[in-house]
This record gives sequence, structure tokens and C-alpha cells, in this order.
Amino acid sequence: MSRAAVLCGLGGALPATAVTNDDLAAELDTSDRWIRTRTGIGVRHVVAPGEATSDLAVRAGQEALASALRAGGQDAAVDLVVLATSTPDRPCPATAPDVAHRLGLPGVPAFDVAAVCTGFVYALATASSMITAGVAQRALVIGADTFSTILDPDDRTTRVIFGDGAGAVVLRAGTADEPGALLGFDLGSDGSGADLITVRAGGSRQRSSTEPPGAGDHFFTMDGRPVFTRAVLDMSRSSQELLDRIGWKAGELDKVVAHQANIRILHAVGGQLGVDEDRIVANLDRVGNTVAASIPLALRDAVADGGLRPGHRVLLTGFGGGLTWGSAALVWPDLDPR
Ligand code: UT7
Repeated sequence: MSRAAVLCGLGGALPATAVTNDDLAAELDTSDRWIRTRTGIGVRHVVAPGEATSDLAVRAGQEALASALRAGGQDAAVDLVVLATSTPDRPCPATAPDVAHRLGLPGVPAFDVAAVCTGFVYALATASSMITAGVAQRALVIGADTFSTILDPDDRTTRVIFGDGAGAVVLRAGTADEPGALLGFDLGSDGSGADLITVRAGGSRQRSSTEPPGAGDHFFTMDGRPVFTRAVLDMSRSSQELLDRIGWKAGELDKVVAHQANIRILHAVGGQLGVDEDRIVANLDRVGNTVAASIPLALRDAVADGGLRPGHRVLLTGFGGGLTWGSAALVWPDLDPR
């Protein structure tokens, strides 16, 4: 049986402060009713002043490593850390080495992957490929973002959607016939849509060191309607391409865990694939859109509430800035996250 990366640990972390729709309605021209009906979101969490992406990533990583230890009863030491984030602690260096250091993993290769909301699937594919190539034996893959730190406080469209968080999984070398084995990936990008989801200033094009950014250029912006359309189209197509490649039918899927962008997007993807709503995992009512943390946090909540169980056929699919998209498939293993 061929070598494969096998998921064997799962964890997550949310900042302490919860922001309800009514909290936002008290300072912006919006309402609980609009947010719930247009997005499905009820609450999101935001970091405290001084709290950074790495702080959440370390907590999620610790939880995933502890879960791997309980599941396998073996040494949880990993030899690779991949962190998906678009809100690193600072532009340079990457945040992953600091996270690895604070997790007590000295000398371990550690790097960031930036694919915005598709970041977790890209990071999963990267770590999985390094395991199947024999470069690594055991990897910690974290998705962590703190978009509250880059949102325009006056932008009601983005403020209502995004929340902060981190989710993590542990992968180990194993074989493709084991539960938890990552069975395939479909990844893609379309840079012609780069301006649809962007932070204009602060990079090498619009340099913050030489010219002060234009009004609002250091804030995150998103053109919601075209992004909505592309999210449905690209997640549906990517999912179907992966299913065709690995020989699964959409009707055989037990759970679809899509990037938690908007409940209407999740249901539209289900509709395109022919998957009923009760098989679409949704936790965005509790956490909002947590960008790279979205898929692992949805997995953790689905396991905790009993909806996702060992033996389930699971499809993961994400879409985000870049534009980027990606999907992965696995049979859910027997895990014990907290
Ligand atoms: O994570 C990466 C991927 N991201 C996504 O996939 C997000 C995709 N986009 C979306 O989820 C949706 O486009 C939004 C939730 C961002 C917006 O929902 P929408 O149904 O597309 O609203 P819209 O932009 O078409 O706006 C409809 C109306 C507008 O008012 P008018 O022009 O009809 O008078 C907006 O000004 O809703 C208004 N509006 C709001 N009203 C109350 C926009 N945001 C808000 C708000 N509260 N927060």
C-alpha cells in the first residue's frame, strides 16, 4: 500500500473576547437580522490588544499535539511545522519558526503559507507532499488568522463577517488504506482576481516605508458580490474534480467541510454538488469567517458535537484571496480532540 500522510490530531483556539451581532449593530449601520440572514453568522471572536496570530497558533498547536498523543499513545514530536496565515505577527520573518520554538520543537523546519482562506488546504497539501516524499515523518499544520487587526473599523461589510482563531492538525506517515489518510488534493489559483480580496499597502508595490499609505489602503478590502459568485463556482468545481480523481461520488459523502465564508455559499456549494444541507458542516454561526483557521475549527466543532464520526467520508474545500481554491478528501479517523 502506498505511503500517505495520515491525520492523527486535531486542535483549535479562539480568543476570549466574543463580539455579537448586537455589539456590532451598536457601532455600525447593521442589524442582527441582516447579518444572520445574509451570512448565517451570530458571534465572532477577536484578539485583545497585543495578542497576535502566533499566540492563537501556539494554543491550537498544543491542543492538536495533545490530541495526537491521546489517539496514538506515541511520542508526539513532529519534524515539520507549516503555518497558514495571511496575518503574520510581522511582515518578516515568517511566524512559523516562532510558533515552533514556543511549542518546544527546536531545529524543526517551519514556514508560512499565504493563501488567505484557502491557506489551510494549501498547507495541508504541502505537509502531506513532504511526508509522502519522505522529507518529513510527522507534521503540525496550523491555520491561524487575526483579521480583526487589519479590518477597517467603519467597514460594515467585512466587520460582520470575519473573526479571529486558529485550528491545527497533526499528520503522520502511514498508508493510504488507513482511516485519516489524505487521499488526494485539487488546488488552483487565478491572479486576475487579486484585487477582489486585498490589502493594498504595506508590500513591495505600495511601500509603507517610503510613502504613507493612502486613506484606508492598509485595511483589508473585499468586493463581496463577485467573491460570492467565484466562491460557489470554484469550490464546487474543485470539489467535483477531486471526487472524480479519487473515484468518489458526491452522494457517498458523509460530510462536506467547506471554508466557512457565508451560510448561503455553503448551501449553494452543496446544491451544486448534490449534497443535502444536513451533510454540510457549519459552525460560522459561532465563529464567523476565521480565514485559514476556518476548516480545522469547523472539523473540531463537528467532532465535538458528534456530527463528524470515525469512518465518515469527508471532503474539505476552500476558497479565498489570490484568488485561490483547494480541496482534499479523507475517511475520518478515530480522534479525541478537546
Ligand atoms: O473568505 C473569503 C471568501 N469570502 C466570501 O466568500 C464572502 C463572499 N461575499 C459575501 O458573503 C457577501 O457578498 C456579503 C456578506 C459580503 C454581502 O452580502 P450580499 O448579500 O452580497 O450583500 P450586497 O453586498 O449585495 O449588499 C446588499 C445590501 C446593500 O444595500 P443596498 O445597496 O441594497 O441598499 C448593502 O449596502 O446590503 C447592504 N449591506 C449591509 N446592510 C446591513 C452590506 N453590508 C451590510 C451590513 N449590514 N453589514
